[in-house]
Amino acid sequence: MYSNGRPVAPARKHTAPELRARKGSGKTISMVTAYDFTMARLVDEAGVDMVLVGDSLGMVVQGLTNTIPVTLDEICYHGRAVARGLVSAHIVGDLPFMSYQVSASQAVESAGKLMKDGAFESVKLEGGTEVAEHVFRIVRAGIPVVGHVGLTPQSVHALGGFKVQGRGDEAAERLIADAKALEKAGAFAVVLEAIPPDLAARVTQELSIPTIGIGAGPSCDGQVLVCTDLLGMFRGAAPKFAKRYADLGDAVVGAVRAYIDEVQAGTFPGPDHSYKPNAPAATAASAARVHEMPKLDTPPGLDLRH
Ligand code: KIV
Repeated sequence: MYSNGRPVAPARKHTAPELRARKGSGKTISMVTAYDFTMARLVDEAGVDMVLVGDSLGMVVQGLTNTIPVTLDEICYHGRAVARGLVSAHIVGDLPFMSYQVSASQAVESAGKLMKDGAFESVKLEGGTEVAEHVFRIVRAGIPVVGHVGLTPQSVHALGGFKVQGRGDEAAERLIADAKALEKAGAFAVVLEAIPPDLAARVTQELSIPTIGIGAGPSCDGQVLVCTDLLGMFRGAAPKFAKRYADLGDAVVGAVRAYIDEVQAGTFPGPDHSYKPNAPAATAASAARVHEMPKLDTPPGLDLRH
């Protein structure tokens, strides 16, 4: 599909109906977050199915302690950059805190803004039964929706921190009811975040739409990770489920240290990274030609001879 990092043939975009139809097919969905064009191109080239422009950008890109201050305009800005880097991956945008909770109408308007200004192909929102009506209305407006239950970071203060959810029979039954309400409302997939693996397995079995787990064990129909966790770029404490597949953070620090050393030693830039010097004869000839040029009426400050 790619040659030298460039697509050589038009790749088929993964669509919401196709991803929904993966349920029971044995083809597990892979999803990662991305927040800019460069990362989007790389994860798309790797062959990921879905890219989420999550409101986690508040923590990863902006350095906030939670996702609450993130705005719709910020999600749209990052969405446009990510969309330009994707050839085949489906792009999902997060509806940020207070852009959909107020009313179903507000939810439809905000989802519409993500699609129009953010170049998204679907939207994701947090919550269960309490947002089912909102999901229904967004879907009816022609916008595919991904649900998100379990640890819902926009409710971090109500939950008392970033904690495992769905522990105990009552909480587990509530979570199953929430996931079913989202399915009934028309969501095409549901993210299950930070719940016990046996509960995730039960939800996955009881739903007819794919579940996409993050900290929800191996039985889900798909998995999602935050790109900077996966790549080992994040310097703070990472959650238990955030497996590192590389140590790019250390690689970046090492590379920049090597650059600083060479700059200080005067060995960068060397001949390989400098343009050819002007040949003395060529310089003299071109200078002579410049002096033969007729005098032009150039605007003040624009002298074409230098
Ligand atoms: O915002 C985000 O990145 C998310 C994922 C962790 C699922 O919601």
